[in-house]
Amino acid sequence: MNKLDTSLVLSSLKKQGYELSESATDADVVLLNTCSVRENAERRVFSHLGHLKHIKETRPNLIVVVFGCMAQRLGSELLEHRAVDIVAGPGQIPQIPELIKQSLETKGQSVAVTEKIRQGLEENQSKMLENFETENEGDDSQIPGQGFIRAMRGCNKFCTYCIVPYVRGPEVSRPVSAIIEQARNMANEGIKQITILGQTINLYRHEETGKVYTLAELLHEISKVDGIEWVRFITSHPAEFEDSVLYAIAENPKICPYLHIPAQSGSNEILKQMNRNYTVEHYTALLERARNIVPGISISSDFIVGFPGETDEDFRLTAELIKKARFKNSFIFKYSQRPGTTAEKRLEDSVPEEIKQQRNLELLEIQNEICAEDSRKLLNQQVRVLVEGLSRKPHVNSAEFMNNPQLIGRTSNDYIVVFNGPASLAGNFATVKVTRTTGLTMFGELIYGD
Ligand code: 5AD
Ligand code: SF4
Repeated sequence: MNKLDTSLVLSSLKKQGYELSESATDADVVLLNTCSVRENAERRVFSHLGHLKHIKETRPNLIVVVFGCMAQRLGSELLEHRAVDIVAGPGQIPQIPELIKQSLETKGQSVAVTEKIRQGLEENQSKMLENFETENEGDDSQIPGQGFIRAMRGCNKFCTYCIVPYVRGPEVSRPVSAIIEQARNMANEGIKQITILGQTINLYRHEETGKVYTLAELLHEISKVDGIEWVRFITSHPAEFEDSVLYAIAENPKICPYLHIPAQSGSNEILKQMNRNYTVEHYTALLERARNIVPGISISSDFIVGFPGETDEDFRLTAELIKKARFKNSFIFKYSQRPGTTAEKRLEDSVPEEIKQQRNLELLEIQNEICAEDSRKLLNQQVRVLVEGLSRKPHVNSAEFMNNPQLIGRTSNDYIVVFNGPASLAGNFATVKVTRTTGLTMFGELIYGD
């Protein structure tokens, strides 16, 4: 979500004549897009602001914009920081170019956030946001060949630990017609894969021209766009997950067989405290259905360790779920108490940091073992990947290797394969034979590019 917001803001600023500078020290305007999901993310923003304050001492005309979730959460409090000139919430990103212009003219500060966020945006703001989304195709410095489209904003789930409903507002599904138009424009620019985004994407629902479109129908519609070869969707919520999505994946080869469906915990007691509205039994039954309907589907998950009151036994149940579910990968987070959430108000952050750390490492170890075993199964197989670009290892991609650099590609079920090939493959499909797997990474040989 944040990367998409960044690219939309960037492309709107480029239209106004701004250029991207190499570093903050030679920029006229610095924008920080922020995340509030965990305290650490906010801490990093303050550390960047500390650095920017120093730069501002010698360059007082520098304009600093803080936007996104933290801007919405803290509002004018952020202006107390000496580095900050402009604060804009996720609903106010269309106003950023204008706010910068005003600030350049008047040297004044400004705050644009949504006052009563749970009541949603005012109609004119919501229209502005919708137009902003469709008019800015996103900045092209993103992954080549790939386009990201927001299908839903906000969230109504109110998981007790989570700040998202309080900073991104109520759940809204965007019109199918707007999404398809964006997909068409992207396809015309050479985009081959569309990923649609939503906090609870399986709840997508929009009525248009007398027809109700669900996620399954939206995915089919996008797959019909000429030039689009792969369609992905993230993130799903395990409650109210309809099998129609699984049948859509099974029937339509363009819909990638990959689910990111966070379980968060393997303990029913903790799931209840988290207000997740499902049990472990419901969750594992869903995985089983997914694997029956779509053989070979990859499933990944998120987990929070150290949620208030998480006992050794609760934790053991989570470890058990990871072992049993055999996720393609799991993102594991240490519980971070967020201001204003139900967990913060009602539950004590009772699990000590060392235990959170230990549980985090333990789950990672279990997951890594599974990743290693599962990637070995792909050894000697040919896989089709969409090439994302050069691998981020400078030593293998130094000048002497630049005629045959190391590339990264991703399969439709989200496995990453590293291989050597021409840089011109970035943004295109390639067939690669997996020749070696080392723990988490798979290496391959290019068979052909297409
Ligand atoms: N503390 C730790 N992790 C969190 N997440 C959301 N809120 C918190 C929090 N307060 C995690 C969840 C979610 C992912 C995006 O971030 O696992 O799925
Ligand atoms: Fe947060 Fe829960 Fe909504 Fe996900 S579903 S964004 S975890 S409230």
